Amino acid sequence: MTANPAPPHTPPARIGLGLAAVGRPGYITLGRERDLPAERTVAALRRRTRELLDLAWARGVRYVDTARSYGRAEEFLADWLHSGDDPREDLVVGSKWGYTYTAGWSVDAPVHEVKDHGVATFERQLAETRALLGDRLGLYQIHSVTPGSTALTDTALHRRLADLAAEGVTVGLSTSGPAQGDAIRAALEVTVDGEPLFRSVQATWNPLEPSAGPALAEAHDAGRTVIVKEALANGRLLLPGTPPYAVLEPIARDTGTSCDAVALAAALHQPWADVVLSGAVTTRQLADNLRAADVRLDGDRLARIAALAESPDAYWSHRSRLPWT
Ligand SMILES: NC(=O)c1ccc[n+]([C@@H]2O[C@H](COP(=O)([O-])OP(=O)(O)OC[C@H]3O[C@@H](n4cnc5c(N)ncnc54)[C@H](OP(=O)(O)O)[C@@H]3O)[C@@H](O)[C@H]2O)c1
Repeated sequence: MTANPAPPHTPPARIGLGLAAVGRPGYITLGRERDLPAERTVAALRRRTRELLDLAWARGVRYVDTARSYGRAEEFLADWLHSGDDPREDLVVGSKWGYTYTAGWSVDAPVHEVKDHGVATFERQLAETRALLGDRLGLYQIHSVTPGSTALTDTALHRRLADLAAEGVTVGLSTSGPAQGDAIRAALEVTVDGEPLFRSVQATWNPLEPSAGPALAEAHDAGRTVIVKEALANGRLLLPGTPPYAVLEPIARDTGTSCDAVALAAALHQPWADVVLSGAVTTRQLADNLRAADVRLDGDRLARIAALAESPDAYWSHRSRLPWT
């Protein structure tokens, strides 16, 4: 992945597919009972992931986002990459290290993932990712950096990440929590041998939690690739009877699309957003999500959407209470 890739020829190339919700039986999005098979076996989720990847690829999606902690998502992606005759060489594969999956394919596990940003975890997880994805790994991100993360100050880790970059892998990070802007700005300052280390930033941005926007604009202007995650607030924007729905639904009706497409379009309209992730779990959702590329939002619509913003503390406090189902 290069910094600020050239504008895509087809709009879906700005939409990426994230595999957080299909690589493991449990996750925090809101309609899993409805949208996933009752028996969330390994085989069923492998099949579901393959269907999503087939459709995404056919429709022009060229970035797929996964992580060591997304259960078997790296494995499912590797299976798909090795299937068929098409090597899909222009697909960029991004993964993340820093969380270890601990749920053992259970929805009810007491702890689903354990965070550690130390060098030893990096070395172990890089080897695990390489064993599955080999040289298809294009982007490796530190998972969920916050301003207090040792990953922003650990010079031994930075040296190891620079070595990975020298092998041709783009080194990036994702951020989370109410101070994403501070984490992004701190990451922009990290250098190794005078060269910026982090070339890509993935952050939560959606109408309820847009506070990272100014820092993401700085990252984009500094030549970093900006990836937007959680553009639907984990499904919170799609609940009938709520204030977000009351704003998004009339725009969806006017544009002949759906609330998910309007919310993803709001992210696509940010001039600093290079890639916006769909977290679809059904091919129907993915098809709906991809229609975001057709939604035009004028100043009035963007202002109505912007009025939905919550305080970052309120947003992240709500998010931390979303159950794993
Ligand atoms: N820290 C990090 O680095 C981090 C954290 C989170 C996510 N991510 C990345 O971002 C990607 C997307 O994030 P996300 O999945 O957490 O959040 P999201 O994009 O805000 O929400 C996606 C969820 O919205 C629902 N949805 C989507 N389209 C729909 C439709 N047409 N109709 C009804 N419901 C629809 C689905 O949930 P239901 O079917 O359950 O309703 C889907 O799982 C992930 O896959 C991952 O790659 C990274």
